[in-house]
Amino acid sequence: MEMKKPIYHKHDIIIVGAGGAGLRAALEASKGARTGVISQVFPTRSHTVSAQGGIGATLGNVEPDNWYWHMFDTVKGSDYLGDQDAIEYMCQMAPEVVIELEHMGLPFSRLPNGKIYQRMFGGHTSNFGERAVCRSCAAADRTGHAMLHTLYQQCLKNEVHFFSEFHALEILTNNGAVNGVLARDIVHGEFHVFHAKAVLFATGGYSRLYQNTSNAHINTGDGLALTMRAGFPVEDLEFVQFHPTGIYGAGNLITEGVRGEGGYLVNAENERFMVKYAPTIKDLASRDIVSRGIMQEFREGRGVGPKKDHVLLMMDEIDEDIIRERLPGIMELAETFAGVDCTKEPIPVRPTAHYVMGGIPTNRFAEVALGSMDSPEDTVPGFYAAGEAACASVHGANRLGTNSLLDIIVFGKVGGAKMVEYVNSLPDFIPLTESAGDRGRAEVDRLLNANGSERMGSIMQDLRESMDENCGVFRTDESLTKQKEKISELRDRYHNIGLDDRGLTYNLDLIEAVELGHILDIAQVVVEAALARTESRGAHFRDDYPDRDDQNWLKHTMAYLSEDGDVRLDYKPVRLQPLSVESFEPKERVY
Ligand code: FUM
Repeated sequence: MEMKKPIYHKHDIIIVGAGGAGLRAALEASKGARTGVISQVFPTRSHTVSAQGGIGATLGNVEPDNWYWHMFDTVKGSDYLGDQDAIEYMCQMAPEVVIELEHMGLPFSRLPNGKIYQRMFGGHTSNFGERAVCRSCAAADRTGHAMLHTLYQQCLKNEVHFFSEFHALEILTNNGAVNGVLARDIVHGEFHVFHAKAVLFATGGYSRLYQNTSNAHINTGDGLALTMRAGFPVEDLEFVQFHPTGIYGAGNLITEGVRGEGGYLVNAENERFMVKYAPTIKDLASRDIVSRGIMQEFREGRGVGPKKDHVLLMMDEIDEDIIRERLPGIMELAETFAGVDCTKEPIPVRPTAHYVMGGIPTNRFAEVALGSMDSPEDTVPGFYAAGEAACASVHGANRLGTNSLLDIIVFGKVGGAKMVEYVNSLPDFIPLTESAGDRGRAEVDRLLNANGSERMGSIMQDLRESMDENCGVFRTDESLTKQKEKISELRDRYHNIGLDDRGLTYNLDLIEAVELGHILDIAQVVVEAALARTESRGAHFRDDYPDRDDQNWLKHTMAYLSEDGDVRLDYKPVRLQPLSVESFEPKERVY
């Protein structure tokens, strides 16, 4: 089949991904430059739409709070792997960016005095861990939904040019600088070359790598795989967060806001087991601790049900009126996916792959940073990243709930502003090379002609189930080695796939084939980085190395993938020096 020639476009700035980070970046960029956004789905269907519990900011609307405590919680929550300059910046900016969203029209829930409603969330405390604090600014339990619609409306007002249902296939570079993106129009099947002065990736995470996940189907790590295929590194991919309360059997998120409003977890013996694992902060400990607590209950035979593989989220101490007013979304989810009326019955839950801390390495200006032990500051001209796709590293080894919506707004905004500065400093577009886009087009050509005997669904299923088993909440040398071998077998099978649909228009088989190739790349890096990291830190827990090892492992993993699929690991230092305050040195784990 003859491949059609691409259609060419020129924009000062191209943003890939239209979730919260992409839209916030587009909004800022559009104030000073011609901005286009490519999105695999219609913007308001991006995964941000499913964020529930709120955005963290020390507004102090319910009780005294300040950004310094927020910073402390975030550094401690990160298990000291977070970069403290970026964390300080994010926590300081939080109140301002939330008020901006309020002024854009985001319909936050309100306190009786009219101020933005704030609820408690895991790991957020006042006075350096003394007690839980109300810091999460929420629009009931649909905060991401409200945010996405607000930002999309603002972008339309600013005449951002949207290319919806376009699938990015290749990052274009010339002499080390990024100068565009190749994408394919999913509906019509044509290739498009977007020539740009600056490109920002806000393509989301890769938790679809797991069978049990709260993530949307699109979260297959495309942006990270394209970054590696362009020869750039990715950072800290071994750190995958498991949210403690995914609906049993379905994986969908039940917001931590339920525990923030007074919900609690019990095991098969009706015991509030989190008291054992986090005596001070109990059910509102950070997610890594609660998820491990639940899994430990399973291991010791106290899980609920015939398979002893879930626990119960009790809501009997929350008034029905409060549930209806502040948690209407999870009422619907519990009914649809667990068949439970949560005003009367507990919700069966278990940990679900929810968020990835690692991503495309950036500094605190959303500039992509190559980084090594010797020169951690080097950046890639024209390349930016924000949101879950990026690793600024404000979450380090474990993210606190509500800091994701904050991250996307803070770094989306600064990324947009920095790109405008950069494009205004460039005299002209950096020319496209002769081969720009050839790699991505050849990949599509190869897949459309693939007629092997393997089916993608079966490879994907095997990958996701084996990741749950071997590279989940708990890992060991043995389980990770087994998974490394499994991935190698799955890569071989991938080379023998066949597509049932060979059409050019709306070919979902083709999209899945591209995504499967991407997620296999990601899986390999996650497993090899996890195997190498012989310590336990945040969400990465090694049964065979249960202690954090600051002597040897207080450093970020940087991973490169070669053309023939070999992973090379390198490391760079953690930025322990904040901008203006004293640093928070690693401390004993006391919860
Ligand atoms: O529990 C939640 O509502 C999730 C929030 C988050 O991941 O930040």
